[in-house]
Amino acid sequence: MKNNAIEKILFTKEEIQKRIKELGEQITKDYAGKKVLMLCILKGSVIFYSDLVRNIDLDCNFDFMVVSSYGNSASTSGQVMILKDLSGSIEDIDVIIVEDILDTGTTLDYLKKILMQRKPASLKICTFLDKPSRRTNNLTADYLGFEIPDEFVVGYGMDYAESYRNLPYIGVLSPKMYS
Ligand code: IMP
Ligand code: MG
Repeated sequence: MKNNAIEKILFTKEEIQKRIKELGEQITKDYAGKKVLMLCILKGSVIFYSDLVRNIDLDCNFDFMVVSSYGNSASTSGQVMILKDLSGSIEDIDVIIVEDILDTGTTLDYLKKILMQRKPASLKICTFLDKPSRRTNNLTADYLGFEIPDEFVVGYGMDYAESYRNLPYIGVLSPKMYS
């Protein structure tokens, strides 16, 4: 499977690790002296999350949500479902949402709204990838790994119909796989 489904590699293992180290340092600085709840949005951000938290030198707590907006297709259904909620309260807690990719912005806009109702001390967004050209609202990330063009990417946690999450790089999925 090395791998004619992948048209080209956008970011190698090494490029990913270098950028994550920088993101971790930035978060460590910004939250100095604070405790922060790192909120992993499963499943896509699991790999990014596990690399990121190990580059943050702070008192971190973990929590996880499972959110689904796609079904098995390559474009958003526009409907966000919470399949697993937080395991605890976030009231008065500094929270960083860790997401794989910011596309139309529908998922994070919705999540941000419902989490703000729970009165966190602060709520920021850290996304590994951003496709700004696809945005349908004015959502922006507070921390961003890489900006990418409007192409469907897989690997490093991201899937197409649940496959390719385990690729160690970010690749562009060949459109022949979904057209
Ligand atoms: P949004 O709600 O349109 O911003 O979509 C966000 C979610 O769609 C992400 O968390 C991903 O799960 C998925 N997604 C968007 N673009 C891609 C992509 O290029 N590859 C894989 N998943 C994607
Ligand atoms: Mg997905």
